[in-house]
Amino acid sequence: MRNQLVCIAFIVTLGCSPSGEEEVTTEVTVNQDVIAEVFGDKIDVNNLFDYQGQDIPDYIDKDNTDDNPITNEGATLGRVLFYDVNLSIDNTIACASCHQQAFAFGDGLQASDGVDGTTGRHSMRLINSRFADEEKFFWDERASSLEDQTTKPIQDHIEMGFSGEDGNPDFDELITKLDTITYYQELFPMVYGDTEITEERVQNGLAQFIRSIQSFDSKYDVGRAQVNRNNQPFPNFTNQENEGKTLFGDRPDFDNNGLRISGGAGCGACHRAPEFDIDPDSKNNGVIHSLSGASDTDVTRAPTLRDILNSEGELNGPLMHTGDMDMAEVIAHYNNVELSRYNNNLDGRLRGRQGAQQLNLSNEEMEALTAFLATLSGSNVYTAEQWSDPFEK
Ligand code: HEC
Ligand code: HEC
Repeated sequence: MRNQLVCIAFIVTLGCSPSGEEEVTTEVTVNQDVIAEVFGDKIDVNNLFDYQGQDIPDYIDKDNTDDNPITNEGATLGRVLFYDVNLSIDNTIACASCHQQAFAFGDGLQASDGVDGTTGRHSMRLINSRFADEEKFFWDERASSLEDQTTKPIQDHIEMGFSGEDGNPDFDELITKLDTITYYQELFPMVYGDTEITEERVQNGLAQFIRSIQSFDSKYDVGRAQVNRNNQPFPNFTNQENEGKTLFGDRPDFDNNGLRISGGAGCGACHRAPEFDIDPDSKNNGVIHSLSGASDTDVTRAPTLRDILNSEGELNGPLMHTGDMDMAEVIAHYNNVELSRYNNNLDGRLRGRQGAQQLNLSNEEMEALTAFLATLSGSNVYTAEQWSDPFEK
């Protein structure tokens, strides 16, 4: 009886609403049968995953969400778009083809396969993208926001192909295509109150889904929760891991030539704890070659250093924009940065007055750094259902 009354009251509200858009509530307009036909029990519109209310540790305070906060409806739409091969011209490639959950939403390959060739840089992990001060995305920060980033791969001639170039369809034609797909006729109204599909709505959904991908169940997090500051020793760490943490965080002291005479390895000045997001003011780190052989001095961003390794301790993919280093090679790189005359964009923190940095790390120090970096990996994010493929049968 009570339910019935609520229902009637709701219909009256709808009927009287002059504008419509804000008044429409999800449960009424979405047809679960249409959703179930495609997604089985992977999506239940009456019981969506809780993307908006996830626990965030209280020591995490960076957040690049602007005016597109996560909602359960928006992130659910984003999940479907992220895994949908219909977003590519030949229905073979989804975002998830190059951003795979099992690899921290990156790719184990050096360069990823798109509809027309392979990418010019290594794919990026999409972990904790939200928890960063940097608002710009891509290795070279060419996207001004995550929203702006999300539809670029769709319009990229190599990646998903709706480029409008060389006789290929453009983004408007993608929208026409999506308009004919039954589940989008349900999912867009669930989020926005009507069936209209626009680039902005696609961007907002994808960005909400990506911002929802979070990983805070690492050994680092267990330790961090037990102390007040990042630079205190963590009770759950081995001596070696604590030593690595100190080396990572402390600044090096260089002589004029850039040779380290004391202090740490200075990593934390750019990869900042506890999010391990990149300092927005970072310049390049001296890795200036590229997959094509040309020089690439514009790379000034890295994804968080969390989840570089999976929970088994294996690399989720090769490292750097070039996808050609393992952890030992990364540390060897920083240990002995080359000052190339072609590099006018090397970060000042990686050089002394005369030369580029020589950290002069001992083997023991390198091992400690490596052990510390392994504490930054979670396990839940690799299998959690809310970020998994909803199309999988
Ligand atoms: C063919 C492979 C491929 C596909 C498909 C693809 N990406 Fe990517 N993605 C990449 C590569 C490679 C990069 C790094 C490119 C660069 O910086 O030049 C990247 C970077 C990103 C970034 C930037 C991450 C950061 O921390 O700056 C985001 C976000 C992203 N992709 C989301 C998506 C979304 C959303 C889709 C689907 C609409 C998608 N990608 C489709 C390969 C792909
Ligand atoms: C001046 C800022 C800066 C400092 C200091 C710095 N890095 Fe980086 N780091 C970057 C940038 C920028 C990138 C992306 C470079 C690229 O892909 O070419 C990066 C990339 C990385 C990557 C690869 C990330 C990925 O997703 O592939 C690792 C690992 C890394 N750094 C570890 C370290 C360690 C360990 C130290 C200390 C020894 C350190 N960094 C010091 C700026 C810095």
